[in-house]
Amino acid sequence: MEDFSFKTPSVRLIKPQALKASKTRNLLILVGSKKNLHPKSKDLMAWKTPWTDRLLKSLALRDEDIKEGEAILLARTEQGDPDILLLAEPKDQESFFVQQWCRDRLKLAVRPTHEQISFGFVGKSISKDRENQLAYAFGLALAARVFLLPVYGSKAKDQKPYQLKEILWSGSLKSKEHLERGLLEVNGNNLVRYLGFLPPNYLDPAQYGQKIEALAKEFRLSLKFHSKAELKKLGAEAFLAVDRGNPDSKGGIYEISYNPSRAKNKKPVALVGKGLCFDTGGYDVKTNGMMATMKGDMQGSAVALATICLAAKMKWPLRLKAFLGITENHISPKAYKADEVVKAMNGLSIEIVHTDAEGRMVLADTLALASKTKPELIMDFATLTGAAVRAIGTAYSAAFTNNQKFHSRVLEAGRESGERVWTFPLDQDFGKVLESPIADTLQCARGASVDHINAAFFLRRFVGEGIDWLHVDLSAAENKGGLGPTDSEYTGFGPRFALEFLRGLYKLS
Ligand code: BES
Ligand code: ZN
Ligand code: ZN
Repeated sequence: MEDFSFKTPSVRLIKPQALKASKTRNLLILVGSKKNLHPKSKDLMAWKTPWTDRLLKSLALRDEDIKEGEAILLARTEQGDPDILLLAEPKDQESFFVQQWCRDRLKLAVRPTHEQISFGFVGKSISKDRENQLAYAFGLALAARVFLLPVYGSKAKDQKPYQLKEILWSGSLKSKEHLERGLLEVNGNNLVRYLGFLPPNYLDPAQYGQKIEALAKEFRLSLKFHSKAELKKLGAEAFLAVDRGNPDSKGGIYEISYNPSRAKNKKPVALVGKGLCFDTGGYDVKTNGMMATMKGDMQGSAVALATICLAAKMKWPLRLKAFLGITENHISPKAYKADEVVKAMNGLSIEIVHTDAEGRMVLADTLALASKTKPELIMDFATLTGAAVRAIGTAYSAAFTNNQKFHSRVLEAGRESGERVWTFPLDQDFGKVLESPIADTLQCARGASVDHINAAFFLRRFVGEGIDWLHVDLSAAENKGGLGPTDSEYTGFGPRFALEFLRGLYKLS
């Protein structure tokens, strides 16, 4: 099986006249307002060529066939003609819906055999901003569509890879840049989808480590591995308590650094991720099908990994680090159990309540290790709690911060990127249920609680003094039917939110 690597089809800017004359191969996508696309409209007539003519005639298109937000696929009638997809602009203005709209419309028309896909705009009623928004969303949806998740055995032989190599773009130079940004950034989502989707016997901590090494090499990032032996010396008992469940595991914490020569920040931004290659629940074993999809419990680490790769690819002038806490939650005579007391790297003792709350244990030490490098901001990502899923569903993720000023920025970055998040409170009274009579903190509340908030409260205690912190509980990591530009249950949610938040905070382009 081929390993994952970033793939981006090339884009060529082309004038509408030239596009018409070139008799674009494979597929031409014409986008306009409902009015522009009326069969007899002057704007559509401007796209008249022998091949568009043949198609429009063959279909006997009527005015009433064109509806806002809808698509009409005109399949070629003659060998050598392209297929044409007429897209009437949707009403939706929100990025998320526009991206999902692009995904569903492209699905109608894009085929594995298409090597070249062309885009043209009909008429002038689409504003510049709107053209940019659509371009970004087309880029995302197109590169998400042509990315295939791995299948095995005879299924692998039958899988038809998409041949897309080139996009002809007949819009503005600016919108071409948005298209290219979409095509690039969705590689981050695809990486998270790929890693989340891999069967757990194809992505154990050792195999994951090899992939991390390969990506670090591809993007020229420096890489340090904090092995179990080293973590033991550092006193990272919280991480090691979980890792103990599999004495043979090759778990540990991967530290990746991106150090551009001219950076806007002196102290780095640290991206931290939960990387549970599988979560059985431990002795509090998951039952009743709750274990299904727990191969995806490493997606927080994948988001951190994808984000640093993208930032490097875009040559961002931003010092970044990623800390990936990679292990598994298993049962064995060595596995941790309820009532143990362990001490994290920052000296705080934790009384264990439930072995299935392993994510916060792994993150406690990963956050403490990240804090030692004195970052100015830590962003962590984790498929941490079922409570977040119950609170906000799987089309949004839940966010928490220790900086009041971040709330509106977080919402804005979610809205703008289309990876939507909503913030929750973290007042001190949420810590009440975590008081332990024998240790500094309980691992989680005994009995029912607002666990996504309590878990965030717990994590905050492992973030070093004076460091801004944003925690994203990835409830949207899995969503039936996909999310936004992607259509797989593992949605790949996260990297674009992270980039957009940083873009806003550091005024990056
Ligand atoms: N990985 C799970 C959280 C999870 C569950 C994410 C389902 C996405 C979908 C986490 O390790 C876990 O099991 N959390 C427990 C915590 C509880 C025992 C306090 C949970 O949410 O049930
Ligand atoms: Zn768990
Ligand atoms: Zn877990």
